Amino acid sequence: MDETTVEKLESVYTKYIELDGNAISILQDIQAELDYIPEEAVHWISQKTGIAASMFFGIVTFYTQFYMKPRGANIVTACCGTVCHVKGSHRIITRINDELKLRNDEDTTRDGLFTVEKVNCIGACSIAPVVVINQKVHGKMSPEKMAKQLKSCKDKKSE
Ligand code: FES
Repeated sequence: MDETTVEKLESVYTKYIELDGNAISILQDIQAELDYIPEEAVHWISQKTGIAASMFFGIVTFYTQFYMKPRGANIVTACCGTVCHVKGSHRIITRINDELKLRNDEDTTRDGLFTVEKVNCIGACSIAPVVVINQKVHGKMSPEKMAKQLKSCKDKKSE
């Protein structure tokens, strides 16, 4: 790990001591500092705190709020619930993967600009198919509208 990462972890550890934190709060703080939770960071904080690394890994894999891989600058969440599926979410996902040149096993673009997630029903079935882009809900989505949204995200990045 580089010096900056270690400094950030030291500050997480200090906060843990001062505020009598717990494993979940440590992980939240690591993610807030580093944007994700690298495996090396878990081992580092485990040694410092004496909390077993397996405890941290158990929490990280249980809660969907934690990420062990870097995420893209833009988060695209495609709903694959039943209603969205019936309304054509598979065509939208195919378009997303084509536009971003993602293979089936990839969820983040190589340039780090996008991470694509698939979820089951976000509770907005009346406007299906639904895609959430950077926490903004887009209903009645189509492959063409999706391509425009992705282009807009790319254009913002290059501004
Ligand atoms: S199935 Fe997609 S919002 Fe409900």
